[in-house]
Amino acid sequence: MSIAKLLNLKTIQDSRGNLTFIQNDSILNFEIKRVYYLHDIPFKSERGGHAHKNLQQLIIPLSGSFNIYLNNGFSEETFFMSDPTKGLFVNNLVWREMRNFSSGSVCLVLASELYYEEDYIRDFDEFIKYVSK
Ligand code: TYD
Repeated sequence: MSIAKLLNLKTIQDSRGNLTFIQNDSILNFEIKRVYYLHDIPFKSERGGHAHKNLQQLIIPLSGSFNIYLNNGFSEETFFMSDPTKGLFVNNLVWREMRNFSSGSVCLVLASELYYEEDYIRDFDEFIKYVSK
């Protein structure tokens, strides 16, 4: 079974271009409390390197592409993100690392919680201990 789930986002296509939307409905597994985005990401930059105790996220490559490596303490999986009509639902207690950002890429993140540093596990060994409990 996959660690995370790729969701097909509702997209309206016409001759003027595409419009993709996300709202608090049954497609999303959580209510959006926070939105942030990564942009102007330097060449070879790596982001993430943590897990969340409670927070859930939907990660969308608005522009460009990048890889997301995931590890739930039992298995690992890497997703190549390049389609802005697909969002990756990442549950709590999943370690993530994001890398190989293409030039000019923008990564949108919708989160189920407000920013709360105590929700982070930033040490991989600590994460493994936490999920093995
Ligand atoms: P972090 O979550 O470590 O970034 P990433 O996972 O993308 O590599 O956050 C980087 C810094 O920004 C850290 O000091 C916490 C701060 N931050 C906020 O203040 N608010 C936020 O909503 C987020 C996501 C991070």
